[in-house]
Amino acid sequence: MPEYVLAFKPAVDGYGVHDPSAVIFHDRELIFGIEEERLNRRKTAPNCFPIQAIRACLDHCDIEMEDVDKILLPYRPELKLLQPLSSSGQIETGVEVLNFVDTIQATPLIQRALGGRIGSKAQIERRLRDEFGSPLPPVEEHSHHACHAASAFHPSGFHQALVVTLDGKGEYDSTVIWRGTSRGIDRIKTYPAENSLGRFYGVITNYLGYRAFNGEGKVMGLAPYGSENKSIESKLRSIVDTGVDYDVTLLTGEGTIDHGVSVLEDLFGKKRSRGEEFTDFHKDLAFVTQKLLEETVTDIVRTYTDEFGLHDVALAGGVALNCKMNKQVMEMDCVDNLFIQPVSSDAGLAVGAGMLRYRPSSVPDMSTVYWGPDFSNESIAEILDRNKIDYTKPDNLEARVAERIADGALVGWFQGRLEMGPRALGNRSILADPRTESSRENVNKYVKHREGWRPFAPSMLAEAAEEYLQHAEESPYMIKTFETIPEKRDEIMGVLHPGDDTTRPQTVRESQNPRYHRLLSEFERQTGVPVLLNTSFNDHGEPIVTTPQEAIKDFYGMGLDVLVLEDYLLEK
Ligand SMILES: [Fe+2]
Repeated sequence: MPEYVLAFKPAVDGYGVHDPSAVIFHDRELIFGIEEERLNRRKTAPNCFPIQAIRACLDHCDIEMEDVDKILLPYRPELKLLQPLSSSGQIETGVEVLNFVDTIQATPLIQRALGGRIGSKAQIERRLRDEFGSPLPPVEEHSHHACHAASAFHPSGFHQALVVTLDGKGEYDSTVIWRGTSRGIDRIKTYPAENSLGRFYGVITNYLGYRAFNGEGKVMGLAPYGSENKSIESKLRSIVDTGVDYDVTLLTGEGTIDHGVSVLEDLFGKKRSRGEEFTDFHKDLAFVTQKLLEETVTDIVRTYTDEFGLHDVALAGGVALNCKMNKQVMEMDCVDNLFIQPVSSDAGLAVGAGMLRYRPSSVPDMSTVYWGPDFSNESIAEILDRNKIDYTKPDNLEARVAERIADGALVGWFQGRLEMGPRALGNRSILADPRTESSRENVNKYVKHREGWRPFAPSMLAEAAEEYLQHAEESPYMIKTFETIPEKRDEIMGVLHPGDDTTRPQTVRESQNPRYHRLLSEFERQTGVPVLLNTSFNDHGEPIVTTPQEAIKDFYGMGLDVLVLEDYLLEK
């Protein structure tokens, strides 16, 4: 009998503080998933219970909570008790004490005491009962990093692999090395929460004037504008060790970002304030930080692929969103194949929690992140009519849109099911001509309302990837960076990183997204270039749009020229 399994990531009651989400599996297949931020419209939805995301999962399946067979939570608050043992080096993997924790958990008195102190399943169950009534399906918890690891290994298609999960902090761990086999995932080594690569990058992000756990992508984007700087590098190396035995605890050990920033201020002087012009020092610090991260992660991968004789590698956790770092891993001689879970942030923990329930070989290979809601033409027409908005329904929509983009128009492109994860992949995208640098400037200035130096990435026909990318391979999720072919750079100036001419593409096959593939083909027919500038459909600091109403509001509130809503076209 096929079962419904609901997995969700709370951001309350000791279960973390950001990126709540929910996904639902039917008969082992993930059939719907969404971040709470896409529904409550607060970026990363801090301190939220994902009530709307859970409801959306049930509504999609047209079921009630009582029809769900199992609920999975991607966090075990009681494992926080391991932190002192982990940080003092008394446990190597954490596995040896998990059984002990399971035993004491079985004691109701201790369970109550723990629940009061560090959060517990009982509090989550109470919230669910308040919202959905009784009885509830059984609720099961899995550790944070095990869920990240399963999200990377189980859908990778690998028979066995080295799995590395990297983030700010799980219950007591920050980086974990796993071995994935047909039996599942085994924890090999645990780096304690105090020694965190995610927090290391977060401290630098805050020092450079952005919010930690939010602006890391901007620092990564800034890095190629900087260059080698021996003075900065030797100072930073005086307080951090890199490589497989990395140690960044002087910056991350106190557990607060502010502490790490004060250490940097002692080292380098006052931090950059928001809005202050970036100096060469700031750019070089970003460059050096990126270099030390890459040096560390590649050494970890080299060490453990060698130790276990594995050549396939899977990554997850927030640090795996660093697509420049991913490029370095991808290019290592010891790595044959690299899979990165595209929903690598904590929103993807729910994905992994669900997959952890099944044998890896029975989980389908990852083929999509189009897991959110879609909207019919009828419902969109009704909204447009009700708001007295003029629109057309062109016979060849893709040809018309390609023509407008080639003419310099900035296009809001809304079709199909919402993407889960940080990247818009042609269903909630803003599109522009990739051929000119002015496209990048225009999208930054008129649409995204952000700094002009921020780079953009392309979507391209998968069939044409080899023409533009060195060592081209399928990259459907915009999570890997590539060198570009020098002779072709002129054609895609708007989607190269100006600092190093690299690019972070989405390759598109017809089977993955037929309408988007048609649009790219049409743009190629008209211009000779099978590429588009693709950025997420949202204004600065907001979550990606979910509904047609949000897209329409942004169309009029941003400098977009054209809006496509399924079969309909709106033009200013
Ligand atoms: Fe995480």
